Amino acid sequence: MKVLVIGGGGREHAIVWKLAQSKRVDKIYCCPGNAGIAELAECLDIKPTDFDALLNLVRYEWIDLTIVGPEDPLAAGIADVFRKDGRKIFGPGAMGARLESGRAFSKDFMRRYGIPTAEYRVFSSYIHAEDYVRLKGAPIVVKADGLAAGKGVYVAKTVDEACEALRLIMKERVFGEAGDRVVVEECVQGEEASFMAFTDGTTIIPMVSSQDHKRVFDGDLGPNTGGMGAYSPAPVLPEEMERTVMEKVMRPFLRGVQAERMDFRGVIYAGLMIKDKKPMVLEFNCRFGDPETQAVLARLDSDFFEIALAVSEGKLAQASVAWKPEASVCVVAASGGYPGSYGKGKVIKGLNAVKRMKDVVVFHAGTGFDGESTVTAGGRVLGVTATGADVPAAKARAYEAIAKISFEGMHYRKDIADRAIGRSAC
Ligand SMILES: Nc1ncnc2c1ncn2[C@@H]1O[C@H](COP(=O)(O)OP(=O)(O)O)[C@@H](O)[C@H]1O
Ligand SMILES: [Mg+2]
Repeated sequence: MKVLVIGGGGREHAIVWKLAQSKRVDKIYCCPGNAGIAELAECLDIKPTDFDALLNLVRYEWIDLTIVGPEDPLAAGIADVFRKDGRKIFGPGAMGARLESGRAFSKDFMRRYGIPTAEYRVFSSYIHAEDYVRLKGAPIVVKADGLAAGKGVYVAKTVDEACEALRLIMKERVFGEAGDRVVVEECVQGEEASFMAFTDGTTIIPMVSSQDHKRVFDGDLGPNTGGMGAYSPAPVLPEEMERTVMEKVMRPFLRGVQAERMDFRGVIYAGLMIKDKKPMVLEFNCRFGDPETQAVLARLDSDFFEIALAVSEGKLAQASVAWKPEASVCVVAASGGYPGSYGKGKVIKGLNAVKRMKDVVVFHAGTGFDGESTVTAGGRVLGVTATGADVPAAKARAYEAIAKISFEGMHYRKDIADRAIGRSAC
């Protein structure tokens, strides 16, 4: 079988790595891919939103299954276009993807199906939004309605901060039309965790839990990033809590999908806030998280191709989804300056030394090949991922590995998974 993976980050490298282990997969293509993915797949420089070119590739290379990594092509309807052409694709149609690309739509969906979420109001006028913020007071959360590459959320400690966020989103339009509307919501406290599940719209099967680290510096300080690391399992989501999330969030989600006739075949990701053993949904994503996927797929014991194919065919009930008992930790190595501006083209050293290590895999994110060496080509460069008997063991192994890697300006957090280790110690 031939598979096409769309995207070129650490998440897609993890997907390609897992697919390459399947006996049924003969060839993998990736658009656009990166230097690490190129060791396992044929990388082609086609943009994830160039549907015509992607569909032509699938037609002329006789590709059996396409797996979509990022949200942008899903929001733009790639799954609908492919299915209309009779192609198998892993990822929801545009209507399902709207649960991520339209926050107001997503919050209204949660309300319709009784999914617990923070109290909120939607505004398309600045003046009404400001009135509401002044009425409610701080802390309060302001979110741009549309996709904003993970930057559209402001957790405001004061009313002035919230008004400034409204001004940036609605008046300065820093996120363009994603700021046509805003969601203003209650600030909730608790502990965050990511819950991902496979679904074909009829069956839903949870993945193991995970948690990521958004801030750039140790101790959760500094600006937000795409994610500086992740670990699995998340102690805040023990089995009993997973059952609660399935019952209170995932089952009602599936009821909604069916009632609204969404074609949802792919991954549903709930960003959760858990307080007093009660989960609240902060957001839905309609695809795998990055870097959570690196930690989660490292623990998958089943054939990922079989699962993805079953999802795309609406036969998930027949697939086997089993997990390894080991824990995993992924530590991201980033370019100097990230998440601000950073240089590219720095030679990455030490990758071969890590290749020889057992229980470690280095997922490439922003990397390229300059004809001689593997070089940096993005903000997040590598996701060094290790498994171990438990989270502390996986963490120790991941840090042992990352210490062997270097490039000019490289930085990474030293405290990935400490949250989990601290908790399990009490
Ligand atoms: N209602 C809320 N109360 C408190 N914190 C929130 C709330 N909504 C979002 N946050 C914080 O903001 C972060 C980003 O918000 P989220 O809705 O997950 O959007 P995105 O991941 O697209 O940036 C969350 O991980 C959480 O830390
Ligand atoms: Mg989030």
